[in-house]
Amino acid sequence: MVGHADKVANPGDYFTVELLGLPIIVARDRKGDVHAISNVCLHRAAPVAVGEGNTKFGFSCLYHGWSYNHDGSGRSCSGMEDAADFDPKALQLPKYEVRVWEKWVFVAPGGGAPDFDEWIETTAFRAARYNMGELEFHGARRYVLDLNWKLINDANHEAYHVPFVHPGLVNAYSVAKNYGVVDPDELRGNDDADRGANMSPDVNGYTHMANEISGELLAMEPNPRGPFSKVIAALGGTSDYRKIKPALDCLQDRDKLAHYFLFNWPGLSHFHFMPDGLGLILLVPIDHEHTEVYVEWWMPKVSRFDERLLQAALIVFGNQILDEDGAMTQLVWTGLQSGAYDTGRFAPTMEGLLYAYNVWYIEQLQAGLEREEA
Ligand code: FES
Ligand SMILES: [Fe+2]
Repeated sequence: MVGHADKVANPGDYFTVELLGLPIIVARDRKGDVHAISNVCLHRAAPVAVGEGNTKFGFSCLYHGWSYNHDGSGRSCSGMEDAADFDPKALQLPKYEVRVWEKWVFVAPGGGAPDFDEWIETTAFRAARYNMGELEFHGARRYVLDLNWKLINDANHEAYHVPFVHPGLVNAYSVAKNYGVVDPDELRGNDDADRGANMSPDVNGYTHMANEISGELLAMEPNPRGPFSKVIAALGGTSDYRKIKPALDCLQDRDKLAHYFLFNWPGLSHFHFMPDGLGLILLVPIDHEHTEVYVEWWMPKVSRFDERLLQAALIVFGNQILDEDGAMTQLVWTGLQSGAYDTGRFAPTMEGLLYAYNVWYIEQLQAGLEREEA
Protein backbone atom coordinates (compact mmCIF):
# COMPACT_ATOMS: atom_id res chain seq x y z
CA MET A 1 0.00 0.00 0.00
CA VAL A 2 1.60 3.23 -1.09
CA GLY A 3 -1.10 5.86 -0.61
CA HIS A 4 -4.75 6.81 -0.71
CA ALA A 5 -6.84 6.37 -3.82
CA ASP A 6 -8.30 9.86 -3.49
CA LYS A 7 -4.85 11.32 -4.23
CA VAL A 8 -5.21 10.07 -7.79
CA ALA A 9 -8.97 10.50 -8.14
CA ASN A 10 -8.79 12.83 -11.18
CA PRO A 11 -6.94 12.75 -14.48
CA GLY A 12 -3.51 14.32 -14.04
CA ASP A 13 -3.40 13.67 -10.27
CA TYR A 14 -0.17 12.21 -8.97
CA PHE A 15 1.76 11.54 -5.78
CA THR A 16 5.31 10.43 -5.08
CA VAL A 17 6.34 7.82 -2.56
CA GLU A 18 9.34 5.71 -1.60
CA LEU A 19 8.72 1.99 -1.23
CA LEU A 20 11.60 0.14 0.45
CA GLY A 21 14.01 2.73 -0.94
CA LEU A 22 12.49 2.73 -4.42
CA PRO A 23 11.19 6.19 -5.49
CA ILE A 24 7.83 5.81 -7.24
CA ILE A 25 5.30 8.12 -8.89
CA VAL A 26 1.66 7.07 -8.92
CA ALA A 27 -0.28 9.03 -11.54
CA ARG A 28 -3.63 8.97 -13.30
CA ASP A 29 -3.29 9.81 -16.96
CA ARG A 30 -5.72 11.89 -18.98
CA LYS A 31 -7.55 8.78 -20.19
CA GLY A 32 -8.16 7.76 -16.57
CA ASP A 33 -5.64 4.91 -16.23
CA VAL A 34 -3.48 4.75 -13.11
CA HIS A 35 0.25 4.09 -13.47
CA ALA A 36 3.11 3.46 -11.07
CA ILE A 37 6.44 4.49 -12.56
CA SER A 38 9.99 4.89 -11.36
CA ASN A 39 10.78 8.37 -10.06
CA VAL A 40 14.41 8.09 -11.12
CA CYS A 41 15.25 10.00 -14.30
CA LEU A 42 16.82 8.00 -17.13
CA HIS A 43 19.36 10.78 -17.72
CA ARG A 44 21.24 11.05 -14.44
CA ALA A 45 18.89 9.65 -11.81
CA ALA A 46 17.31 12.82 -10.45
CA PRO A 47 13.66 12.83 -9.33
CA VAL A 48 11.16 13.45 -12.08
CA ALA A 49 8.46 14.64 -9.66
CA VAL A 50 8.19 15.72 -6.03
CA GLY A 51 5.31 15.79 -3.57
CA GLU A 52 1.85 15.46 -5.03
CA GLY A 53 -0.56 17.44 -7.12
CA ASN A 54 -2.00 17.59 -10.60
CA THR A 55 -0.14 17.99 -13.85
CA LYS A 56 -1.71 18.17 -17.26
CA PHE A 57 1.26 17.07 -19.32
CA GLY A 58 3.15 14.68 -17.08
CA PHE A 59 6.48 15.32 -15.45
CA SER A 60 9.60 17.31 -16.10
CA CYS A 61 12.82 16.23 -14.40
CA LEU A 62 14.09 18.60 -11.74
CA TYR A 63 17.72 18.38 -12.84
CA HIS A 64 17.85 19.01 -16.62
CA GLY A 65 14.24 19.01 -17.63
CA TRP A 66 13.77 15.74 -19.50
CA SER A 67 10.02 15.28 -19.63
CA TYR A 68 7.82 12.20 -19.38
CA ASN A 69 4.12 11.40 -19.77
CA HIS A 70 1.97 10.15 -16.87
CA ASP A 71 2.72 6.58 -17.92
CA GLY A 72 6.49 7.17 -17.84
CA SER A 73 6.98 7.27 -21.59
CA GLY A 74 9.37 9.97 -22.82
CA ARG A 75 8.09 13.27 -24.24
CA SER A 76 11.03 15.54 -24.94
CA CYS A 77 14.60 16.20 -23.85
CA SER A 78 15.73 19.68 -24.78
CA GLY A 79 19.50 19.85 -25.23
CA MET A 80 19.64 16.31 -26.66
CA GLU A 81 18.86 17.32 -30.26
CA ASP A 82 22.42 16.54 -31.41
CA ALA A 83 22.65 13.18 -29.68
CA ALA A 84 22.99 10.41 -32.23
CA ASP A 85 20.45 7.59 -32.21
CA PHE A 86 18.50 9.22 -29.44
CA ASP A 87 14.73 9.43 -29.51
CA PRO A 88 13.12 10.98 -26.42
CA LYS A 89 9.84 9.30 -27.33
CA ALA A 90 11.51 5.90 -27.08
CA LEU A 91 12.33 6.47 -23.41
CA GLN A 92 10.29 4.61 -20.83
CA LEU A 93 10.68 4.89 -17.08
CA PRO A 94 10.31 1.45 -15.47
CA LYS A 95 6.66 0.66 -14.73
CA TYR A 96 5.39 -1.31 -11.76
CA GLU A 97 2.22 -3.26 -11.19
CA VAL A 98 -0.40 -1.00 -9.62
CA ARG A 99 -3.96 -1.49 -8.40
CA VAL A 100 -6.49 0.82 -6.82
CA TRP A 101 -8.66 -1.06 -4.32
CA GLU A 102 -11.23 0.60 -2.04
CA LYS A 103 -9.37 3.44 -0.25
CA TRP A 104 -5.84 2.59 -1.31
CA VAL A 105 -3.30 2.27 -4.08
CA PHE A 106 -1.17 -0.89 -4.08
CA VAL A 107 2.09 -1.20 -5.96
CA ALA A 108 4.16 -4.35 -6.51
CA PRO A 109 7.66 -3.46 -7.70
CA GLY A 110 9.73 -6.27 -9.12
CA GLY A 111 8.42 -9.54 -10.42
CA GLY A 112 6.89 -12.44 -8.56
CA ALA A 113 3.98 -10.61 -6.93
CA PRO A 114 0.90 -12.73 -6.36
CA ASP A 115 -2.19 -12.10 -8.43
CA PHE A 116 -3.78 -9.04 -6.82
CA ASP A 117 -7.36 -10.29 -6.93
CA GLU A 118 -6.37 -13.53 -5.23
CA TRP A 119 -4.18 -11.67 -2.76
CA ILE A 120 -6.99 -9.37 -1.65
CA GLU A 121 -9.85 -11.86 -2.02
CA THR A 122 -10.51 -12.68 1.63
CA THR A 123 -10.08 -9.06 2.69
CA ALA A 124 -12.44 -7.97 -0.06
CA PHE A 125 -15.16 -10.38 1.11
CA ARG A 126 -14.92 -8.90 4.59
CA ALA A 127 -14.70 -5.31 3.37
CA ALA A 128 -17.99 -5.78 1.54
CA ARG A 129 -19.73 -6.00 4.94
CA TYR A 130 -18.29 -2.78 6.32
CA ASN A 131 -19.79 -0.13 4.03
CA MET A 132 -16.35 1.05 3.06
CA GLY A 133 -17.83 3.97 1.13
CA GLU A 134 -19.00 5.53 4.40
CA LEU A 135 -15.72 5.17 6.23
CA GLU A 136 -13.60 8.31 6.31
CA PHE A 137 -9.94 8.74 7.01
CA HIS A 138 -9.49 9.49 10.72
CA GLY A 139 -5.76 9.94 10.80
CA ALA A 140 -2.52 8.03 10.50
CA ARG A 141 0.57 7.45 12.53
CA ARG A 142 4.10 6.48 11.53
CA TYR A 143 6.86 5.42 13.90
CA VAL A 144 10.08 3.45 13.85
CA LEU A 145 10.96 0.59 16.18
CA ASP A 146 14.56 -0.57 16.60
CA LEU A 147 13.84 -4.21 15.98
CA ASN A 148 13.26 -6.75 13.25
CA TRP A 149 9.82 -6.47 11.62
CA LYS A 150 9.06 -10.10 12.38
CA LEU A 151 8.76 -9.48 16.13
CA ILE A 152 5.79 -7.16 15.57
CA ASN A 153 4.35 -9.56 13.05
CA ASP A 154 4.68 -12.40 15.56
CA ALA A 155 2.91 -10.36 18.25
CA ASN A 156 0.05 -9.78 15.80
CA HIS A 157 -0.34 -13.54 15.37
CA GLU A 158 -1.21 -14.56 18.91
CA ALA A 159 -3.27 -13.31 21.84
CA TYR A 160 -1.40 -15.33 24.44
CA HIS A 161 0.30 -12.08 25.47
CA VAL A 162 -2.89 -10.03 25.71
CA PRO A 163 -3.61 -10.47 29.45
CA PHE A 164 -0.02 -9.50 30.28
CA VAL A 165 0.70 -6.75 27.80
CA HIS A 166 -2.75 -5.22 27.27
CA PRO A 167 -4.54 -5.08 30.65
CA GLY A 168 -6.75 -2.31 29.23
CA LEU A 169 -8.61 -4.82 27.08
CA VAL A 170 -11.75 -6.17 28.65
CA ASN A 171 -11.67 -9.73 29.94
CA ALA A 172 -8.21 -10.24 28.66
CA TYR A 173 -8.02 -13.88 29.68
CA SER A 174 -11.09 -14.85 27.73
CA VAL A 175 -9.72 -12.89 24.78
CA ALA A 176 -6.61 -15.02 24.85
CA LYS A 177 -8.68 -18.20 24.96
CA ASN A 178 -11.17 -17.13 22.33
CA TYR A 179 -8.66 -15.74 19.93
CA GLY A 180 -9.08 -18.16 17.10
CA VAL A 181 -8.25 -18.70 13.53
CA VAL A 182 -11.29 -18.34 11.35
CA ASP A 183 -11.84 -20.58 8.42
CA PRO A 184 -11.56 -18.58 5.19
CA ASP A 185 -15.14 -19.62 4.36
CA GLU A 186 -16.28 -17.83 7.45
CA LEU A 187 -14.33 -14.70 6.65
CA ARG A 188 -16.09 -14.82 3.33
CA GLY A 189 -19.47 -14.76 4.98
CA ASN A 190 -20.40 -18.38 5.62
CA ASP A 191 -21.36 -18.20 9.28
CA ASP A 192 -21.84 -21.95 9.56
CA ALA A 193 -18.19 -22.57 8.89
CA ASP A 194 -16.06 -24.04 11.65
CA ARG A 195 -14.78 -21.33 13.97
CA GLY A 196 -11.53 -23.17 14.44
CA ALA A 197 -11.06 -21.58 17.85
CA ASN A 198 -8.96 -24.51 18.92
CA MET A 199 -5.92 -23.72 16.89
CA SER A 200 -4.24 -26.90 15.86
CA PRO A 201 -1.81 -26.64 12.99
CA ASP A 202 -4.39 -28.51 10.85
CA VAL A 203 -7.06 -25.93 11.48
CA ASN A 204 -4.92 -23.01 10.45
CA GLY A 205 -3.21 -24.93 7.71
CA TYR A 206 -5.30 -22.77 5.43
CA THR A 207 -2.74 -20.07 6.13
CA HIS A 208 -0.89 -21.65 3.26
CA MET A 209 -3.80 -22.95 1.27
CA ALA A 210 -5.61 -19.65 1.05
CA ASN A 211 -2.76 -18.07 -0.78
CA GLU A 212 -0.92 -17.04 2.34
CA ILE A 213 -3.87 -15.14 3.70
CA SER A 214 -5.05 -15.85 7.20
CA GLY A 215 -7.57 -14.32 9.51
CA GLU A 216 -8.39 -14.31 13.15
CA LEU A 217 -11.48 -13.60 15.17
CA LEU A 218 -11.38 -11.99 18.54
CA ALA A 219 -13.80 -10.19 20.80
CA MET A 220 -11.96 -7.15 22.07
CA GLU A 221 -13.50 -4.21 23.82
CA PRO A 222 -12.11 -1.64 26.24
CA ASN A 223 -11.94 -2.71 29.86
CA PRO A 224 -14.51 -0.77 31.92
CA ARG A 225 -11.80 -0.19 34.53
CA GLY A 226 -9.21 0.85 31.98
CA PRO A 227 -8.27 4.37 30.86
CA PHE A 228 -10.91 4.34 28.14
CA SER A 229 -13.69 4.10 30.73
CA LYS A 230 -12.82 7.59 32.02
CA VAL A 231 -13.89 9.13 28.73
CA ILE A 232 -17.15 7.25 28.91
CA ALA A 233 -17.72 8.36 32.50
CA ALA A 234 -16.98 11.98 31.53
CA LEU A 235 -19.73 11.72 28.96
CA GLY A 236 -22.14 10.50 31.64
CA GLY A 237 -22.09 7.08 30.13
CA THR A 238 -22.12 3.63 31.50
CA SER A 239 -19.30 1.20 31.83
CA ASP A 240 -20.95 -0.73 29.04
CA TYR A 241 -19.25 0.96 26.17
CA ARG A 242 -21.51 -0.44 23.48
CA LYS A 243 -24.61 1.13 25.06
CA ILE A 244 -23.36 4.57 24.09
CA LYS A 245 -21.13 3.67 21.16
CA PRO A 246 -23.10 1.27 19.01
CA ALA A 247 -21.30 -0.76 16.40
CA LEU A 248 -21.63 0.18 12.74
CA ASP A 249 -25.25 -0.15 11.61
CA CYS A 250 -24.37 -2.08 8.52
CA LEU A 251 -22.88 -5.01 10.45
CA GLN A 252 -24.45 -8.37 11.15
CA ASP A 253 -24.86 -9.20 14.84
CA ARG A 254 -21.79 -11.35 15.11
CA ASP A 255 -19.57 -8.79 13.43
CA LYS A 256 -20.77 -6.19 15.94
CA LEU A 257 -18.85 -8.12 18.59
CA ALA A 258 -15.88 -9.26 16.63
CA HIS A 259 -12.55 -7.89 15.58
CA TYR A 260 -11.13 -9.48 12.46
CA PHE A 261 -7.45 -9.32 11.71
CA LEU A 262 -6.56 -10.18 8.16
CA PHE A 263 -2.94 -10.59 7.26
CA ASN A 264 -1.95 -10.47 3.63
CA TRP A 265 1.40 -11.91 2.66
CA PRO A 266 3.62 -10.82 1.20
CA GLY A 267 3.16 -7.14 1.74
CA LEU A 268 2.97 -7.14 5.54
CA SER A 269 -0.36 -5.39 5.54
CA HIS A 270 -2.75 -6.13 8.32
CA PHE A 271 -6.39 -5.10 8.02
CA HIS A 272 -8.20 -4.82 11.32
CA PHE A 273 -11.99 -4.81 10.86
CA MET A 274 -13.62 -3.43 14.02
CA PRO A 275 -17.23 -2.91 15.12
CA ASP A 276 -16.39 0.82 14.82
CA GLY A 277 -14.54 0.91 11.54
CA LEU A 278 -11.26 -0.20 10.11
CA GLY A 279 -7.61 -0.02 11.06
CA LEU A 280 -4.73 -0.70 8.73
CA ILE A 281 -1.25 -1.56 9.93
CA LEU A 282 1.72 -1.75 7.59
CA LEU A 283 5.10 -3.05 8.67
CA VAL A 284 7.88 -1.63 6.53
CA PRO A 285 11.29 -3.18 7.19
CA ILE A 286 13.96 -0.45 6.94
CA ASP A 287 16.72 -2.98 7.52
CA HIS A 288 16.95 -6.13 9.59
CA GLU A 289 16.99 -4.20 12.85
CA HIS A 290 14.66 -1.25 12.14
CA THR A 291 11.00 -1.37 11.26
CA GLU A 292 8.66 1.41 10.31
CA VAL A 293 5.11 0.91 11.52
CA TYR A 294 2.40 2.81 9.68
CA VAL A 295 -1.13 2.85 11.05
CA GLU A 296 -4.37 4.29 9.65
CA TRP A 297 -7.85 4.56 11.13
CA TRP A 298 -11.08 4.70 9.11
CA MET A 299 -14.46 5.38 10.74
CA PRO A 300 -17.83 6.71 9.67
CA LYS A 301 -18.55 10.42 9.75
CA VAL A 302 -20.49 11.30 12.88
CA SER A 303 -21.83 14.68 13.85
CA ARG A 304 -22.53 14.61 17.59
CA PHE A 305 -19.71 15.78 19.81
CA ASP A 306 -19.85 12.78 22.14
CA GLU A 307 -19.70 10.39 19.18
CA ARG A 308 -16.69 12.21 17.79
CA LEU A 309 -15.01 12.15 21.18
CA LEU A 310 -15.58 8.41 21.48
CA GLN A 311 -14.09 7.81 18.06
CA ALA A 312 -11.05 9.87 19.04
CA ALA A 313 -10.75 7.98 22.32
CA LEU A 314 -10.92 4.66 20.51
CA ILE A 315 -8.02 5.71 18.31
CA VAL A 316 -6.00 6.77 21.36
CA PHE A 317 -6.82 3.41 22.89
CA GLY A 318 -5.79 1.55 19.72
CA ASN A 319 -2.51 3.45 19.62
CA GLN A 320 -1.90 2.58 23.24
CA ILE A 321 -2.28 -1.13 22.42
CA LEU A 322 0.25 -0.69 19.61
CA ASP A 323 2.67 1.09 21.96
CA GLU A 324 2.35 -1.75 24.46
CA ASP A 325 3.24 -4.25 21.73
CA GLY A 326 6.11 -2.03 20.57
CA ALA A 327 7.56 -1.73 24.08
CA MET A 328 7.33 -5.46 24.74
CA THR A 329 8.81 -6.55 21.42
CA GLN A 330 11.62 -4.03 21.90
CA LEU A 331 12.52 -5.92 25.08
CA VAL A 332 12.28 -9.21 23.17
CA TRP A 333 14.71 -7.85 20.56
CA THR A 334 17.22 -7.16 23.34
CA GLY A 335 16.76 -10.74 24.52
CA LEU A 336 17.26 -12.15 21.03
CA GLN A 337 20.42 -10.06 20.55
CA SER A 338 21.88 -11.19 23.86
CA GLY A 339 23.05 -14.58 22.63
CA ALA A 340 21.28 -16.17 25.61
CA TYR A 341 18.37 -17.47 23.53
CA ASP A 342 18.15 -20.16 20.91
CA THR A 343 14.61 -21.52 20.44
CA GLY A 344 11.48 -21.86 22.58
CA ARG A 345 8.21 -23.83 22.58
CA PHE A 346 4.86 -22.62 21.27
CA ALA A 347 1.69 -22.89 23.38
CA PRO A 348 -0.38 -25.52 21.53
CA THR A 349 -3.79 -23.89 21.82
CA MET A 350 -2.86 -20.23 21.69
CA GLU A 351 0.05 -20.01 19.30
CA GLY A 352 -1.22 -22.26 16.54
CA LEU A 353 -1.46 -19.46 14.03
CA LEU A 354 1.99 -18.20 14.96
CA TYR A 355 3.33 -21.72 14.46
CA ALA A 356 1.64 -22.03 11.08
CA TYR A 357 2.97 -18.63 10.07
CA ASN A 358 6.51 -19.53 11.06
CA VAL A 359 6.38 -22.80 9.13
CA TRP A 360 5.10 -20.90 6.10
CA TYR A 361 7.75 -18.22 6.50
CA ILE A 362 10.62 -20.72 6.74
CA GLU A 363 9.33 -22.32 3.53
CA GLN A 364 9.42 -18.93 1.81
CA LEU A 365 12.99 -18.32 2.99
CA GLN A 366 14.08 -21.75 1.78
CA ALA A 367 12.42 -21.25 -1.58
CA GLY A 368 14.15 -17.88 -1.88
CA LEU A 369 17.53 -19.41 -1.08
CA GLU A 370 16.96 -22.15 -3.66
CA ARG A 371 16.08 -19.54 -6.28
CA GLU A 372 19.28 -17.67 -5.48
CA GLU A 373 21.37 -20.82 -5.73
CA ALA A 374 19.77 -21.85 -9.04
S1 FES B 1 18.73 13.82 -14.43
FE1 FES B 1 16.79 14.11 -15.28
S2 FES B 1 17.14 15.49 -16.87
FE2 FES B 1 19.10 15.18 -16.06
FE1 LIG C 1 -0.52 -7.07 21.32
